[in-house]
Amino acid sequence: MPARLIDGRALAAVMQAELAQRVAEQVSTGGPRPGLAAIQVGSRQDSTRYVRGKIRACEKVGIASFHHPLPESTSQAELLRLIEKLNGDASVHGILVQLPLPPHIDESVVIRAVAPHKDVDGFHPENLGLLAAGTPRFVACTPLGVQQLLLRHDVPIAGAKVVIVGRSTIVGKPLALLLMRKGEGGDATVTVAHSRSRDLPGITRGADILVAALGQPGYITADMVKPGAVVIDVGTTPTADGRLVGDVDFDRVREVAGAISPVPGGVGPMTITMLLYNTHRASQIQSVG
Ligand SMILES: NC(=O)c1ccc[n+]([C@@H]2O[C@H](COP(=O)([O-])OP(=O)(O)OC[C@H]3O[C@@H](n4cnc5c(N)ncnc54)[C@H](OP(=O)(O)O)[C@@H]3O)[C@@H](O)[C@H]2O)c1
Repeated sequence: MPARLIDGRALAAVMQAELAQRVAEQVSTGGPRPGLAAIQVGSRQDSTRYVRGKIRACEKVGIASFHHPLPESTSQAELLRLIEKLNGDASVHGILVQLPLPPHIDESVVIRAVAPHKDVDGFHPENLGLLAAGTPRFVACTPLGVQQLLLRHDVPIAGAKVVIVGRSTIVGKPLALLLMRKGEGGDATVTVAHSRSRDLPGITRGADILVAALGQPGYITADMVKPGAVVIDVGTTPTADGRLVGDVDFDRVREVAGAISPVPGGVGPMTITMLLYNTHRASQIQSVG
């Protein structure tokens, strides 16, 4: 029997409608309208598409968005000056710097320049540290989206064996920290695999929940999946004809897995949704001082 589909697009629509209601209530009771500033340096097509999608999503839920498209030639100092200005702007609760940045700009310096209480991407070391300490403030949007996909599809996480393939600071590492936390949405037994892991199929076959976040199209094949396992595909690799492909061999793995998320329409829409959630939370945190 083919696996149950874990539909991120449908869940994102439900969660965005829920959020729109909360934002409307906040504004109608005199609270702040959440505001997100989106900075894009250069004109990479994929970045333009992502930023446009995020701004459109803001509009749908009633979050104000402030788009800052900057030329490719923007210097690091100029970018840092804009971030400094936005850090001090009370109408901006969240700041998003679309990655990757051009090679003449040091991403880690830029990430550290965003005020931690406006870091709705959850990339700042202070926010990563808070997550590691078990007291998260802003968690990166893709890991949060994966956790919500599991929770809202009633996938048992507590006690489950989770294998995450990929150890990046924006996906694999924070997801591992999130799913091993004590309490709801956590308590999993987490293994993180990467390009130096030995016997990857042996590791992935032990997973009740397998998360693929490697950026290698179709790498996770049916023989790497335990029958009945839940498979979440984070991978998004653009093809020459403009499609996005995941890290999982979807057609074959769905014959083995118990549930599976597609690409597109799985983790991607949830990542955007969690950015909106983080921005709303930022406005709440900042309005209480
Ligand atoms: N849907 C979304 O919203 C969303 C958001 C973010 C990212 N993504 C996608 O998710 C994928 C991963 O993104 P990322 O930023 O985490 O990528 P990344 O920084 O390139 O990290 C990839 C990770 O996968 C590991 N890896 C690569 N090849 C492997 C192999 N053959 N076997 C085992 N491990 C392997 C790497 O190991 P090493 O550490 O040893 O090099 C690394 O830890 C990409 O396709 C990206 O586009 C999607």
